[in-house]
Amino acid sequence: MAHIVVLPGDGIGPEIMAQAVAVLEAVRDVFALPLTYEHQLLGGAAIDQAGEPYPAATRQAARAADAVLLGAVGGPRWENIERSLRPERGLLAIRADLGLFANLRPAMLYPQLAAASTLKPEVVSGLDLLIVRELTGGIYFGQPRGVRIREDGEREGYNTDVYRESEIRRIARVGFEMARLRQGRLLSVDKANVLEVTELWREVVSEVGRDYPEVSLSHMYVDNAAMQLVRAPRQFDVIVTGNLFGDILSDEAAMLTGSIGMLPSASLDAQGKGLYEPCHGSAPDIAGRDIANPLATILSLAMLLRYTLRQEEAAVAIEKAVGRVLDRGLRTADIAAAGESVVGTQAMGQAVVAALREHSRAH
Ligand code: NAD
Ligand code: IPM
Ligand code: MN
Repeated sequence: MAHIVVLPGDGIGPEIMAQAVAVLEAVRDVFALPLTYEHQLLGGAAIDQAGEPYPAATRQAARAADAVLLGAVGGPRWENIERSLRPERGLLAIRADLGLFANLRPAMLYPQLAAASTLKPEVVSGLDLLIVRELTGGIYFGQPRGVRIREDGEREGYNTDVYRESEIRRIARVGFEMARLRQGRLLSVDKANVLEVTELWREVVSEVGRDYPEVSLSHMYVDNAAMQLVRAPRQFDVIVTGNLFGDILSDEAAMLTGSIGMLPSASLDAQGKGLYEPCHGSAPDIAGRDIANPLATILSLAMLLRYTLRQEEAAVAIEKAVGRVLDRGLRTADIAAAGESVVGTQAMGQAVVAALREHSRAH
């Protein structure tokens, strides 16, 4: 029996998660999966109800679970509380606590959405790249950090970008393993012309590359990579990079697929246990209005079934159900091209559930 902890979070989190849970129940029925799940608190919702963003009950449940499915956390309501107690700190804490160092963010363009991208269809059609983002190190976690008052009385903020060789090596291996399963091309993104920490990054990634002669490795500075991603995104297969660059490049890659509402992610530990979440945030600007796109969260559930539960058939069934719903022209506002009619969060989720259940009757 596999057990999943569901963390809806804040903003649009609960709305999109309700749809992902409906899909979870449908896929459990259709494939007779031995699955149970429970809801727990993370982020702003946890601050409100338990006084901290990653409460002990959530920590215990997450540690004991086989996998975690997360909506999104954060919002203006919690922006001014003490830094260490903000919702985003809860997310960083659960990633660190569970050792989720490998964040896989696949950006794939559904052909039905070629017109939804802000880039020309001929630039993005066929897009299929994977960003492997280091998730528990780098400037997100480096010490020292803070805001201090200088001797002259001026305030200054500071963070530390730091990577140990072993941290670089293990994320590089994930990049090479993924590239080997795909088109065999790995690009490592750094700023080795300026930052020593990424000079070491480049060196260590190259060393690991000697163990993977079948993968072709190249390197690019992050500024050029950001430019190339919108110039000619199909040149990429797998991109491996540090925590901060991966955060930024994955939002950029999301837009190539039409909307950030389409981009799922998996954050994995060394054993393949994972936390699955959309790449987008809690979208406070559209929360509570039944207009958010639930597909990134639903596709994150597909990744959960694939990577942690090893239920490839069920994962593919969800991805195909999403494809069929798009074939039928269903669009949430973020992926609708001019003149296309629009459905809400719930209608989109229900359509995916219906497509999944049709699949079961067809077999
Ligand atoms: P965001 O991703 O929440 O929103 C950016 C833009 O994309 C907004 O216009 C939003 O409406 C739109 N958008 C996002 N998801 C969408 C969806 N599913 N469907 C349709 N449109 C969608 O980023 P932000 O505005 O910079 O951050 C808002 C809050 O979310 C902040 O508190 C931030 O810290 C937090 N955040 C959380 C996560 C996470 O929990 N993993 C990720 C990113 C940001
Ligand atoms: C993401 C988010 C988080 C990050 C924030 C909310 C801590 O932007 O998952 O991409 O920066 O990692
Ligand atoms: Mn982000």
